[in-house]
Amino acid sequence: TTHQVGYLIGSLAKHSINRKLAQALVQLAPPQLQMREISFKDLPLYSYDYDADYPAVARTFKEAIASVDAILFVTPEYNRSIPGGLKNAIDWASRPYGKNSFSRKPSAVIGTSPGSIGTAVAQQSLRSVLSFCDSPQMNAPEAYIQFSTGLITDDGEVTVGSTQEFLRNYMSEFATFIARVLQVLPRDA
Ligand code: FNR
Repeated sequence: TTHQVGYLIGSLAKHSINRKLAQALVQLAPPQLQMREISFKDLPLYSYDYDADYPAVARTFKEAIASVDAILFVTPEYNRSIPGGLKNAIDWASRPYGKNSFSRKPSAVIGTSPGSIGTAVAQQSLRSVLSFCDSPQMNAPEAYIQFSTGLITDDGEVTVGSTQEFLRNYMSEFATFIARVLQVLPRDA
């Protein structure tokens, strides 16, 4: 069986290294995973004033999350946390109260930064948010990718063999995790 994975890229930057990483992960994913980006760049800043009547862009965003089996977060670390735009998107998806799009939706987190911590602190912060949002998270393997120039080409090709194999295994483990979670928590349950 195939599983649909929606991925959110935490960075809005044109030359985002996390976008390159996401492209690599799409290419390295096993065939049973169908990957598609879920964009959040057009969402306004969330307020619960919108809860009574979500704008079309936010409804579309929530429907995109509802339509996939699992979510992959590919995010940079900004000031030792996740970028504000990504947090805003998560807040939109988590509401209105009682309509949390992440509830029981399996997820995984990964990210890259030029620094050696490789987004570890941001990922911990994101994991707290996802726990509260009731998303079953893949705990292992973790993936803290230190980016160096040329590690991933613009076409998403990973130029270092060991990193390529690490990322391939990460996606394979994610596929196994999704299948396991869906056995216990089917989407329509
Ligand atoms: C950063 N950067 C950064 N790096 C890191 O490892 N830890 C951090 O806390 C921060 N903080 C931070 C804040 C802000 C506002 C910016 C713009 C950058 C550096 C960051 O890792 C680098 O710019 C990456 O290129 C960001 O990933 P994207 O956006 O290119 O995918």
